[in-house]
Amino acid sequence: MTTAKSAPSCFSAYPLEDYRAHREDIQQAVQRVLERGHYILGSEVAAFEQEFASFVGVAHSIGVANGTDAIELLLRALEINGGSSVAVPSQTAVASVSAVVRAGAAPLFVDVDPVTFTMLPESLEQAIHSPIGRQLKAVLAVALYGHPADMDGLRRLCDEHNLILLEDCAQSHGATYHGTSVGSIGRGAAFSFYPTKNLGAIGDGGSVVTNDTALAEKVRWLRQYGWRERYISDFEGINSRLDELQAAILRVKLPLLAAKNKRRRSLAAIYEKGLSNLPIQTPVSRPCCEHAYHLYVIRVKQRDALMKYLTSRNIPAARHYPAAAHQQRAYAFFAQRSPPLPNTEALVPEILSLPLHPYLAEDEVEYTVDVIRQFFA
Ligand SMILES: Cc1ncc(COP(=O)(O)O)c(C=O)c1O
Repeated sequence: MTTAKSAPSCFSAYPLEDYRAHREDIQQAVQRVLERGHYILGSEVAAFEQEFASFVGVAHSIGVANGTDAIELLLRALEINGGSSVAVPSQTAVASVSAVVRAGAAPLFVDVDPVTFTMLPESLEQAIHSPIGRQLKAVLAVALYGHPADMDGLRRLCDEHNLILLEDCAQSHGATYHGTSVGSIGRGAAFSFYPTKNLGAIGDGGSVVTNDTALAEKVRWLRQYGWRERYISDFEGINSRLDELQAAILRVKLPLLAAKNKRRRSLAAIYEKGLSNLPIQTPVSRPCCEHAYHLYVIRVKQRDALMKYLTSRNIPAARHYPAAAHQQRAYAFFAQRSPPLPNTEALVPEILSLPLHPYLAEDEVEYTVDVIRQFFA
């Protein structure tokens, strides 16, 4: 039987540790904004938009209030609304689905790959050929937990059936697919800067990115009351602006993102090695992809018992998510029209997120591994 080491003093709190690590730079950035006195859509947002677009490798980035709005604004700018459907994996943060509904479209749930947890092209094909498939206008590929979806497979279907391929990159800042940054593959993409994300603000924030100049322009109008000219609404827009303080903080953190993702990958490698030969499915990173390891999600049949065992030993394990979107009362209605979702339904009771963030110490990961091995001994 393996003997677990004693528990490390604490599993460092993220994102607080991220603030502490860059406290001085963040405080200077905040001070700069406060003293400038221009708090909405000023030079910090403009500079961050350029820097983030260049990080993703696209022509345009538009700062918005959060990642949910980013998806909604993309769909609204593309006029994907009443009577249209958007294919979306049911295994995602519910925000992906709520944004589709808020845009006025209907989600068509699609199943996921049982290993990468991302949209399965075969299931999308089933959805396309279903009675409601004719209403499909777009496909929202979610790089869940930080792993890109099979973008070649999805693109082939989108091209064949005249569908717009969009990306939800809320969990995958810095992930790559065939060497290309996620967010630059579809017609447009949405990012979230929620504080726990790989690139997180100290509050809410989001971005729409695209190479399509007309689309970018329309998102810019829609994020601010549909104004093309100040006070003149040409479109029915909303108020969804990234604010100057968050943009200034994100500018401090963006240059550090690649190193933080590298740290996430090296901690993930410790888990992978330590958990080998156990009845656990650990995350894979497909050869074409660089995983951003936003979350480290394992699959295990004894999920609930293991979660209890870990939390009783002060290891913060969690379920992302306790229910898939089609299993939630608010969105169950749309499930009636969707193809079968057997992979999603099988994985929901088995997924468990182990602690992972760049400030975690190696011995915290090793302790978690030891406790899991002890559980199975
Ligand atoms: C996959 C996914 N999509 C969209 C969102 C929405 O982002 P936000 O919380 O910034 O609205 C999130 C954030 O939780 C997410 O994880």
